[in-house]
Amino acid sequence: MKHPLDPLSESEIANAAALVRGKGGLSSHAWFETIALHEPEKAELAQGNPPRHAFVCCYDPHTGQTWDGIADLESGLLRNWRHVAGAQARIVSDEFVMGGEVAKADPRVIAALALRGITDLTGVLIEAWSAGNFGIAEEQGERIAYCHCFLRNTAGDNPYERPIANLHPVVDLRRRIVTRVDDFGVVPLPPDGKPLRQESLRTDLKPLHITQPEGPSFTVEGNLVRWQKWQMRVGFHVRDGLILHMIGYEDEGRLRPIMHRASMAEMVVPYGDPRGGAYRRNAFDTGEYGVGQFLDSLTLGCDCLGHIHYFDAWHHDWHGKPKHIRNAICMHEEDFGILWKYSDPARGTVTVKRSRRLVISSISTIGNYVYGFFWYFYQDGTIGVEVKATGIPLGSGMAQDEPAQYGVKVAPGVEAHVHQHVFSFRFDMAVDGERNAVSEVNFAAVPMGPGNPHGNAIKVMENQLQGESDAQRNMDLASARYWRVTNPNKLNSLGDPVAYKLVPGVNALPFNHPDSAIGRRAAFMYKHFWATQYARDELYPAGWYPNLHGGGDGLPLWTAQNRSLVNENIVVWYTMNYHHLPRPEDWPVQPCIYASFHWMPSGFFDSNPALDVPSSPPASTCC
Ligand code: CO
Repeated sequence: MKHPLDPLSESEIANAAALVRGKGGLSSHAWFETIALHEPEKAELAQGNPPRHAFVCCYDPHTGQTWDGIADLESGLLRNWRHVAGAQARIVSDEFVMGGEVAKADPRVIAALALRGITDLTGVLIEAWSAGNFGIAEEQGERIAYCHCFLRNTAGDNPYERPIANLHPVVDLRRRIVTRVDDFGVVPLPPDGKPLRQESLRTDLKPLHITQPEGPSFTVEGNLVRWQKWQMRVGFHVRDGLILHMIGYEDEGRLRPIMHRASMAEMVVPYGDPRGGAYRRNAFDTGEYGVGQFLDSLTLGCDCLGHIHYFDAWHHDWHGKPKHIRNAICMHEEDFGILWKYSDPARGTVTVKRSRRLVISSISTIGNYVYGFFWYFYQDGTIGVEVKATGIPLGSGMAQDEPAQYGVKVAPGVEAHVHQHVFSFRFDMAVDGERNAVSEVNFAAVPMGPGNPHGNAIKVMENQLQGESDAQRNMDLASARYWRVTNPNKLNSLGDPVAYKLVPGVNALPFNHPDSAIGRRAAFMYKHFWATQYARDELYPAGWYPNLHGGGDGLPLWTAQNRSLVNENIVVWYTMNYHHLPRPEDWPVQPCIYASFHWMPSGFFDSNPALDVPSSPPASTCC
């Protein structure tokens, strides 16, 4: 039995593609950007079993137009099918590969490679990145890719190890031709570097087994997960990747909702080198490419350890043919140290409870970088979100005797530039019900004097954010700031509105000028916290079609309405910025870097909700 929020199945994807091919009025060259579930509204969900709809987006190179609409999989009708004026579909993986191949076959590119001593092209990788939008007249309205070139190492296990400096073919992806070759001058190739797969490995690792002899504590019914008091539905989208729906926690026999939908909605990685063609590097991995289409097929014992439940995913190629990702999403339990403890010295009693968390994760390999998206559910009602970034930092070739200027030298002849990984997480909140409000909490030192004679007083200030213009905020160390989503209609036993608080973690602010091309296109990154009133189509903070877009779409546009945030359906957007100057230790492959934040109950429960977690039996009588 399908749930209305289950991702599209293989046959639904095929049916949606056939429907659009039949009724969409596009040329035979048109290809599919997205075929994914068009999620029903909450009201439709509440009424029972809404019909299955697919959102479909196509690009037609014959006309240069991007089209989208809804394929009604039950009636066979195509609804709201429209040419989206000025929009450019994402660069899907097939097109990304095609763009590189077009560049690699161009005689001007072959000649430029020969100038650099490369005549055997087998190890050459040319990547067709979205060109962004820098107001260059000949690029406006065209489907342009700005390419970056690399040479595989001799060991053959690292296609990015020898960046080819200053060579940037410009590809018209619509016409499948190279329009221009930007060559900013020959720099000698970096020498061949270390292989990723070493011959000599350390030998002192003993086996480490995680056993759950009675199985895991979760149950899975289709995409519905129950784990202790938690409940959620696992979803998938070719653009967003892993999505979690209907997250709730059971409290005294009642399932209390917390979030209706949670996703990583956009990410952008702006690089800080203005020279040559490097300024073009600022990938929106979600909105320009698509995280879901690049999910890894995970392997037990390697990617994941313990008793794992895997969810497969169905996406599609650009012909609209369904593609299967086996083991796309991993779920398991982890021991997480101590949950809580108290030793009563007077009575000589010790009470200690071990913490366990449910982990739902996926890993997306997008070009050189590998992003793990990890969602953690804790027994005390906390939700954790963590990104693990690994893979190969993006290098640039440099003269070996030159000092690094906007980055750091990570290997002879290779500079890795300073950059930021900026993620925008979207939370359609439902804290104990649909109607919520948003507040900001700040702390301040009280002036010393009468009323604060000892100089220790700390004032707690909670300020309700009334409208969307107020709810564009940044972290502030000096005031220990955080944000709360409250339900003014539900009071806890202490008489206060129930709430969850957003606890920021690792973060930074952008260095890109707000008036720069990337600043305009990724305006969401200038605020850590945004709140909006829910609207169905407001899913992506840089707009629905950021590829080659001039900017201004998404959060800045929507919040100009300054809709009310008081007792409304609230969506919270959290920007997490990992500021990254790679180290030599990140080369030739980067150990995972971690960035995370949390949602914690904040008066949602009347007291510690994990008092009832049983103590683990001691392993021996020694203590
Ligand atoms: Co990085």
